[in-house]
Amino acid sequence: MSKVLITGANRGIGLGLVDVYLKNNWEVIAACRQPDSANELKLYGENFQNYLSIVEMDVNNQEQIDKLVGSLKGVPIDLLINNAGAVEMEKYGSGAYEFVDGKPIDDPDIRKYDYSEWESVLKTNVLGPARVTGSLVDNLELAENGLVVMMNSGLGSVSNTWKAGRYAYRTSKGALNMLMRSMGEWLESMGITTVSISPGWTRTDMGGPNAVNSIEEATNGVFKVIAGISSEDTGKFLNFDGTIIPW
Ligand SMILES: NC(=O)c1ccc[n+]([C@@H]2O[C@H](COP(=O)([O-])OP(=O)(O)OC[C@H]3O[C@@H](n4cnc5c(N)ncnc54)[C@H](OP(=O)(O)O)[C@@H]3O)[C@@H](O)[C@H]2O)c1
Repeated sequence: MSKVLITGANRGIGLGLVDVYLKNNWEVIAACRQPDSANELKLYGENFQNYLSIVEMDVNNQEQIDKLVGSLKGVPIDLLINNAGAVEMEKYGSGAYEFVDGKPIDDPDIRKYDYSEWESVLKTNVLGPARVTGSLVDNLELAENGLVVMMNSGLGSVSNTWKAGRYAYRTSKGALNMLMRSMGEWLESMGITTVSISPGWTRTDMGGPNAVNSIEEATNGVFKVIAGISSEDTGKFLNFDGTIIPW
């Protein structure tokens, strides 16, 4: 049975991915910051007892990552989904992608930016996936066709920039793509494939209530795209519908 490790698995797209992978007979390691209060995730444990393990992992906490990796010695991991992500929520609140009266809920004046929140978004969205992937390389290498997915966003595309603002999120996802491409070359030498996938604008805490995709639509799409990936796709930036997103 194939095994997937999903970060940020307690809500939103991460929880949706847990649902899809369990229902498709995968073994799921669901990582989240607070397993004790991950009630929705725990409900899956009741129905998929032997197939779901819930583990504590803040992607910025190397000690927690090391503890998890220690418990996975010699265990092949077929798929790592670096899903955990942050946006400048303090600035925007829920629905960071929203428009009001046709305009983004954004103030593009960079002088008003909260740099400490920007640092924190970069840390979670870039250093987090780097740490987690680096720590799990041995497990990915043990799998027959190890695959690393970076959960990216259309807002990470440089050529798609359509409005100013959301600088923290955009720079983080752009940098995540560079990490995916550059670290992907190193991983390729070990037989591990690396891609970025955008789930599309999705109704979660981050996406807000007016987003286009339901969590189910986004995660079914991501599942289908992942199922079709081969080693030749390494380095691609893909949308949840399988199309290529321009850099
Ligand atoms: N929703 C969209 O429209 C959209 C579009 C494009 C891309 N994405 C990407 O899809 C991914 C999931 O987004 P979402 O919409 O599901 O967001 P969400 O509803 O805000 O959920 C974010 C998840 O990430 C976790 N997380 C945040 N910081 C973490 C950390 N330091 N360590 C571990 N987990 C952490 C959260 O855990 P806590 O509950 O502990 O905070 C939560 O489980 C993100 O990478 C996002 O950038 C989303």
